[in-house]
Amino acid sequence: MTQTVNDIRSAFLRFFEERGHEAVPSAPLVPQNDPTLLFVNAGMVPFKNVFTGQEKRPYTRATSAQKCVRAGGKHNDLDNVGYTARHHTFFEMLGNFSFGDYFKEEAIKNAWSLVTDEFGLPEDRLTVTVFHTDDEAAALWRKIAGLPDERIIRIAGSDNFWSMGDTGPCGPCSEIFYDHGEGIPGGPPGSPDEDGDRFVEIWNLVFMQYDQQPGGERQDLPRPSIDTGMGLERMATVMQGVHSNYETDLFRTLIGASEELTGRAAQGGDAAAHRVIADHLRSSSFLIADGVTPSNEGRGYVLRRIMRRAMRYANGLGAKDPLMHRLVPVLTEEMGGAYPELVRAQSLIEDTLRVEEERFSDLLTRGLKLLGEETAKLPEGGTLPGEAAFRLYDTYGFPRDLTEDALRREGYRLDNEGFDAAMAEQKQRARANWSGSGDAADERVWFDIADEHGKTEFIGYAHEKAEGRLVALVRDGSPVESAAEGDEIVFVTNQTPFYGESGGQTGDTGSARSEGGAELTVTDTKKKAGLHLHEARVTGGTVELGDTLTLTVDGRRRAKIKANHSATHLLHAALRRRLGDHVTQKGSFVGPDSFRFDFSKNSAVAGEDLEAVEAEVNRVIGQNAEGHIAFMAYDDAIESGAMALFGEKYEDEVRVLSLGHDPEGGGKPYSVELCGGTHVNRTGDVQLFAITSEGAVASGIRRIEAVTGEAARAHLKAQANAALASAAALKVKPDALLERVQALAEDKKRLEKELLAAKKKAATGGGGGAKAETVGDVAFTGAVLEGIPPKELRGLIADAKKANPNAVAAFVSTNDGKASVSVGVSDELTGRFPAPELVKLAVEALGGKGGGGKPDLAHGGGPNANAAQAAIDAVKTRLAS
Ligand code: ALA
Repeated sequence: MTQTVNDIRSAFLRFFEERGHEAVPSAPLVPQNDPTLLFVNAGMVPFKNVFTGQEKRPYTRATSAQKCVRAGGKHNDLDNVGYTARHHTFFEMLGNFSFGDYFKEEAIKNAWSLVTDEFGLPEDRLTVTVFHTDDEAAALWRKIAGLPDERIIRIAGSDNFWSMGDTGPCGPCSEIFYDHGEGIPGGPPGSPDEDGDRFVEIWNLVFMQYDQQPGGERQDLPRPSIDTGMGLERMATVMQGVHSNYETDLFRTLIGASEELTGRAAQGGDAAAHRVIADHLRSSSFLIADGVTPSNEGRGYVLRRIMRRAMRYANGLGAKDPLMHRLVPVLTEEMGGAYPELVRAQSLIEDTLRVEEERFSDLLTRGLKLLGEETAKLPEGGTLPGEAAFRLYDTYGFPRDLTEDALRREGYRLDNEGFDAAMAEQKQRARANWSGSGDAADERVWFDIADEHGKTEFIGYAHEKAEGRLVALVRDGSPVESAAEGDEIVFVTNQTPFYGESGGQTGDTGSARSEGGAELTVTDTKKKAGLHLHEARVTGGTVELGDTLTLTVDGRRRAKIKANHSATHLLHAALRRRLGDHVTQKGSFVGPDSFRFDFSKNSAVAGEDLEAVEAEVNRVIGQNAEGHIAFMAYDDAIESGAMALFGEKYEDEVRVLSLGHDPEGGGKPYSVELCGGTHVNRTGDVQLFAITSEGAVASGIRRIEAVTGEAARAHLKAQANAALASAAALKVKPDALLERVQALAEDKKRLEKELLAAKKKAATGGGGGAKAETVGDVAFTGAVLEGIPPKELRGLIADAKKANPNAVAAFVSTNDGKASVSVGVSDELTGRFPAPELVKLAVEALGGKGGGGKPDLAHGGGPNANAAQAAIDAVKTRLAS
């Protein structure tokens, strides 16, 4: 029975697992361990550092089915794909690896046994090649496979010396070819017509021996190793007895689906279009699942080109509506078993493809119309000014390569130099605006770095450890070439897993290590001019520009930040649902230990509202629902109800995060927000949410501070402990605590009142009013009262005035060493003795300043409580004079 692609993949992995190999899941397509590589393009890439001895793993033999993309950069096959039997942008490479374990003999034994016994290929259809000087390999093939010399072909060229790139592990190799038979044109490897389709390479065994250094020198690897690569698509072609990879079961299913959706058969001129769609569907989907998003630079740009190329072909097949996203379920069905990331990311892939296709068709129509207007002004075969093409790009988002493509079709050309000049001029303008914006001039250094090296690519949504190439080092505000132990520096790499502070989320901390053994501690990460600035201290060794650094984010801290950031979104949604949509976010700060969220509201949030909000957030956490990310056009995101920060500047392509389920059902998410931050995968990862405070920060703006996870548990536990300790101190059961505290508070109020009355009575000699003495012609009452609130003095003054029509009363109360004084004067006497004048004398005596009020009543105070009697005497003296 014919084996399917899925069967062949499983059989390969099982074969090597049975021979002591660890089956390692495919690494993501964005290389975490090679900053110089655009995409993983061979099975050995994830193991590069294991081969060189830099990284240790708990096994010395491994096998994998590795996702690979070859598009953009060195191996760019994009334009061929669809027109040949074997070119792909995406393919799977099956491999077995020995890290200093077995070498040539066992590798050849295994390979021969797999292809002939396990896969059942007829021996007489197989031919091998070896590197021209590799007598050992040739002898082994003779011994193990019994192949005659004419089917062990020696090849001198680079075809039989494999290297992953300009640097890294490499070595001579030996390839196995399958002969499709005489009916197919082509000759054996090394012959003049080797490029024909008759002999097809199915497996490459690399005898890894060297590590290629920058500059070309080759060093021996610590121990000879094995790396093999079998293209799964080719193997399936051979085993299924077909001649094109696109005729294997997997591709037939994908192409069948696109035939059905377009209503056009994959025949004649349409065949290539269907092949392009099937191939590009795979690469786009897998790239999106691994965190690449369409953009205008770097990896995102390669993805965008692949997606748009597929879309152009879909359009050519007459598809009026977006097509690609409707093929995703078929792909997931076929490949989701082997690559669960496809299933996890299915909705992200579908949204991303759909949005790109919608935007692209608008762009294409509008751009081509504008371009038509421009070319109408040109003579036949003329050159479009770069300025015009740049305007199309800058104002209408029409990429340069599309313009070029369209011009070429009409026989025009593009003034590329003019385009570059217009681009440079615009950068210059942006810079001039920026330097006038008041930022410190020394920050210009970041713009220079960004101009020279481009932006930092952030690959930290899914990963906390990755390599990056050191492109800039800044010490004391100036670029330097290297930094040594003890130096405080800021460094920039071409890619990083470190999140740079933005959108309220604090920057990552962690460590970095160079291949040469230098150690750095990263204390913070900021974001400027599109660069991620790692603030760091060199704690050992020396780093130099060009070094490859292994960057490791402090994962425990990042996990707490993620939980807090997701909780911020849930809190935002809960507040709006409880208090109304007028509540809008005014700012936030998300750190590892806690977070704060500021929002518009005129009065305090009622206790019961806070409680309800807290409870609802915890319920959504309890749903443990998976979060979803989508990328879409800003306008579409807003239209779909996503919350955005007012006044925040967004790119036209935005990242939209949905969290939780609406408890009212309807399949809607609980929270949908535009956000570039890092978040939990599932709401349950937040664990627990607790509000620690609510208060005002400015007029009309409230702030909630809150904690999650372990910190929330600690907060709640501390509160519970305080209650338990209080209950114990009061000798009551915890559930009687409130009642007891209320009773105590009542008692306290009553006792204070009684105490106050007693003090007043003591100070004024008892009876209804205070005892007055005659000073001059005035009835004067004066007394010092200890520990009585100053506001009580008014009552005493009123009493004194009531008792005598020509009264002056001066009372001083002392509290904690400070004194307050109040002086009252009967209306008849205010002309002669205005109260503010009298109070000033008392205040002076108390060592204070100022004091005042109305002619009949004035107040003041001073720091010298022990001059209280002197203050009263000062008033008395004035009355006597
Ligand atoms: N790394 C080898 C290749 O890609 C096996 O062909």
